[in-house]
Amino acid sequence: MRTHRPRSPFVLVSLLGLLACPAPARAADTSMPRLVQKDGRYALLVDGAPYLMLGAQVNNSSAWPAVLPQVWPAIKAIHANTVEMPVYWEQLEPRPGAFDFSVVDTLVAQSRKNDVRLVLLWFGTWKNGSPNYVPLWMKQDPARYPRMLDVHGRPIASASPFAKETLEADKRAFAALMRHLKKTDPRHTVIMVQVENESGTWGAIRDYSPAAQKVFESPVPAEVIAAMNRKPARAGAAWKEVFGKEADEYFHAWAVARYVGEVAAAGKAEYALPLYANAALRDPIAPGPPGSYESGGPTDNVLPLWKAAAPALDILAPDIYMDEYAKVERVMELYRRPDNALFVPEIANAAAYARFFFLALGHGTLGFSPFGIDYTGFANFPLGAKKLNEEALAPFALNYQLTGPMMRELAQLAFDGKVHAVAEKKGAPSQSLDVGPWKVHVIYGVPQFGFGNNPPGNPEPVGRAFVAQLGDNDFLVAGFHCRVDFQTSGPAAAKQRQYVRVEEGTYENGKFKFVRLWNGDQTDWGLNFTSVPQVLRVALGTY
Ligand code: DGJ
Repeated sequence: MRTHRPRSPFVLVSLLGLLACPAPARAADTSMPRLVQKDGRYALLVDGAPYLMLGAQVNNSSAWPAVLPQVWPAIKAIHANTVEMPVYWEQLEPRPGAFDFSVVDTLVAQSRKNDVRLVLLWFGTWKNGSPNYVPLWMKQDPARYPRMLDVHGRPIASASPFAKETLEADKRAFAALMRHLKKTDPRHTVIMVQVENESGTWGAIRDYSPAAQKVFESPVPAEVIAAMNRKPARAGAAWKEVFGKEADEYFHAWAVARYVGEVAAAGKAEYALPLYANAALRDPIAPGPPGSYESGGPTDNVLPLWKAAAPALDILAPDIYMDEYAKVERVMELYRRPDNALFVPEIANAAAYARFFFLALGHGTLGFSPFGIDYTGFANFPLGAKKLNEEALAPFALNYQLTGPMMRELAQLAFDGKVHAVAEKKGAPSQSLDVGPWKVHVIYGVPQFGFGNNPPGNPEPVGRAFVAQLGDNDFLVAGFHCRVDFQTSGPAAAKQRQYVRVEEGTYENGKFKFVRLWNGDQTDWGLNFTSVPQVLRVALGTY
């Protein structure tokens, strides 16, 4: 005999939802991926609905067809729904104007076969500030495709953003790539494209070539003055006069942003996928002088300038390789702006970074993508893990195992501003969140049973949790290595919290499916999460 499932209070809500929209089975939505904004929050629409990118970026030299067999097992092991892979200009355009799309086609076809979406990274004029990926025929013609000159007039390992021929060549190649995607990818396996990689310059603050110098001594464009909120004493003032000691850095940011913006616009005119540029960050709390970080890229201090100079870019995105909690949090605050969606296209793959996925969720991220995810044997330690194997991937895999099946619901809730999240901070064994009328306490390092007074914190700060608000008193709750508890607050503070119903469930076809009720020891001390992916629907009351 089949047993009856206890009826869930959430069932009614879903039934009502079904009655309200008796939609016929929808044909597969193949609309363009795009960014949308609501009340200062952003969503990335893929197949017509908010999409949370559970990403993984391969190592720099791993997007070659012969290497892909060492890539896919790692992408599977981490449970990614999206892979980020470079497109190498030197491979794409072996002779001027002759394009070879065979590698790109392989990446798209294999991504489809492996059931993941693809983000392509255009390794063009700049890759970590250098022109190492430009085609050989450009490298061999430095007079036509010049490098920048440093303050002593010496050429350095960065292309001049004032090199017209280089810019035109990059625009042509990037436009050809986007045109090709438009023609060959009607299912939108490719959902976003990164323009250049950590553009900017190491080893000089700006270009000192005669062409650059001439512009530096010319009036600052009005949109730059407006973007950086300056009020120069006179019209027509040049960079030094307007920006003083920041002039060199701002000038280079403007030159690089304008260049990358032109490349982006050329591609977008062919095929309007969301485009973004990634930044090698400066320290967000104690930045140090220009030159101690890459100059010219979209660092936090020049975001408005980049926005003004490169409007074809949808997102300016931080590459996170600093594991101090306060810095990571600050980076997320700085890049989540009314005019910019938070998106983390790279983050180090060392275990300590896995918890920041939750922090990013709480800051409304469109996606998260640990770097160096493949089994080619390369490890970028000390930035990332010493060895990239299943054990190293495990903490990241847990995140995606948990959220993958509910990805669409979570992305929608985030877009609605309903997702709150925490990640453990070393030395801070308890954290709290205000969620609707409730106060949520998260504590770390306590056993599942018994009072959680004086929590010690986990031996390593690996705890993390999210609480998404479904209704005033209804929540979706999940986490790892922590205890989550709710307390009354505000006008209800005199009352006691009651767990009316705590359902554990799984997701099938994106829908929550009841598994069991948590009660007794499982709720008496709060909601305890271990290293097992578990998701709860919690209904609260008071007495
Ligand atoms: C950031 C760059 O964007 C990546 O391509 C890579 O070089 C990492 N740094 C370091 O492994």
